[in-house]
Amino acid sequence: MDNAMIATFRDWDHRTPTPWQRLANKVLRRLRIGATLIPNQPPMTNIEARMNLFHLLEQTLAYDVPGDVVELGCNAGESSIVIQNVLTAWASTKRFHVFDSFKGLPPPAGPDAADGVYTEGSMKADQEQLVGIFAEANLARPQLHAGWFEDTIPARLPERISFALLDGDLYSSTRHILPHVYARMMSGAIGFFGCYYDESILVRPHSRDYYKSPGVKRATDEFFADKPERVHVLYACEYSNGYFRKR
Ligand SMILES: C[S@@+](CC[C@H](N)C(=O)[O-])C[C@H]1O[C@@H](n2cnc3c(N)ncnc32)[C@H](O)[C@@H]1O
Repeated sequence: MDNAMIATFRDWDHRTPTPWQRLANKVLRRLRIGATLIPNQPPMTNIEARMNLFHLLEQTLAYDVPGDVVELGCNAGESSIVIQNVLTAWASTKRFHVFDSFKGLPPPAGPDAADGVYTEGSMKADQEQLVGIFAEANLARPQLHAGWFEDTIPARLPERISFALLDGDLYSSTRHILPHVYARMMSGAIGFFGCYYDESILVRPHSRDYYKSPGVKRATDEFFADKPERVHVLYACEYSNGYFRKR
């Protein structure tokens, strides 16, 4: 089910900054005043997105869905440590694979260029950042697959997948990875999208375009047009997550 009402009922969506609050934050920063009107979020995720991730991943463990766990587009590992934390708490023997170029986004072409939301190399994180966050959290490191999805997927995907975090931001990246991941997902497995912005369900006028990843929704909707599953929208403050459960 969608859970947009947890934000849209009454004034429950109080944490997404308005343009004026952003401007005020900027002025406060310039004046070197150590306060903000709205707390700044970590760059890649936020508390609601992590809660969505936590509960969906835990569901696959509680229901004993067979297969390994993958994250496509792991960046510096902000979500990867949540995943590994849950796997560790469950003493799970599942393998956890993370994929990223570690060079940021590829050059946007075709529909991604037309969207004009992202530029080549944006969101670049290096492997050392990911290694560092795991060391800081004192967690076992996942299997790391550095390279363009077009080179690593499907070759390095595990044969069976129980949970997948798909977070490539671009139409081209999502279009490439989704069919391969879907084909390996077991019945009951969950696919979780870091960005799935559906204006017909949840409107986010103050969210920035790069939190909306228009290409992800387009590629995803094209793929699911002839599939039995539906992608549901989950509120995640400035983000909008999505998920489906494999039949
Ligand atoms: C939004 S970030 C991922 C954030 C991460 N999942 C998290 O929650 O912290 C998107 C990542 O996808 C990676 N990416 C996008 N397209 C890619 C491609 N074609 N090949 C490899 N990496 C790609 C980028 O390098 C970037 O780090």
